[in-house]
Amino acid sequence: MTPDQIKALVRTVPDFPAPGIMFRDITTLIAHGPGLSATIDHLAEMANSAGAQALAGMEARGFIFGAAVAARMGLGFVPIRKPGKLPVPTIGVDYALEYGTDRLEIDPTAIPDGQRVVIIDDLIATGGTALAAAELLRMAGAQVTHALFVIDLPDLEGATRLRHAGLRVDALMD
Ligand code: PRP
Ligand code: ADE
Repeated sequence: MTPDQIKALVRTVPDFPAPGIMFRDITTLIAHGPGLSATIDHLAEMANSAGAQALAGMEARGFIFGAAVAARMGLGFVPIRKPGKLPVPTIGVDYALEYGTDRLEIDPTAIPDGQRVVIIDDLIATGGTALAAAELLRMAGAQVTHALFVIDLPDLEGATRLRHAGLRVDALMD
C-alpha cells in the first residue's frame, strides 16, 4: 500500500480531546491488517536508511509502531514511559503538549553507550514529546539523529522545531 492509501485509513475526530482539536485517530489504520503491515514496512525502510541500531517509542501510541518496526528489523525497542511506570530509578523530562502537559521517563541503563537510537511515534504535532524523548535518550548515552512518524501535522511546526534542534525528521504523511 502507498502512503496515500494508508492515509485514507486514518480517521479524523473533531473536538477531541478539547474543542478545536482535530484528532487524527490511528485506531482505524491499525485495525486494517494490510494497512498496518504496510505502515511498518515503510517505517522499517526509513529506520534502516537512518542506520538504526535500536528503536525507541513513546507511550502509548509510539509503542504500537516502534515495537513492531523493531521486531521487523530484528532490533531492540526502548519504551519511553509516562511517569511512575518503570520499576527502577528513572530519568525524566517534563514537556508541553498541544492539549496540556506531561512527563516522560526512561530507564537510563536500557541503552548501550553510543548506540544509534531512532525515535518512532504515531504523530508529531508541536514536537514537544519528540524533543523530550530525544533529550532523555541522549541523557542515557544514545546517539539520536532521526525521528520518524506516521503522521506530521505541519501547521503545528513540530518537525521544524526538531530540525532546528539538529534532528532529521521523516513522516509517512501530512
Ligand atoms: C500524542 C502522540 C504523540 C504526541 C504528539 O500522544 O501520540 O506522542 O501526542 O504531540 P506533540 O508533538 O505536540 O508533543 P499523547 O501524549 O496524546 O499520548 P498517547 O500516545 O498515550 O495517546
Ligand atoms: N497528539 C497531539 N495532537 C494530536 C492530534 N491533533 N491528533 C492526534 N494525536 C495528537
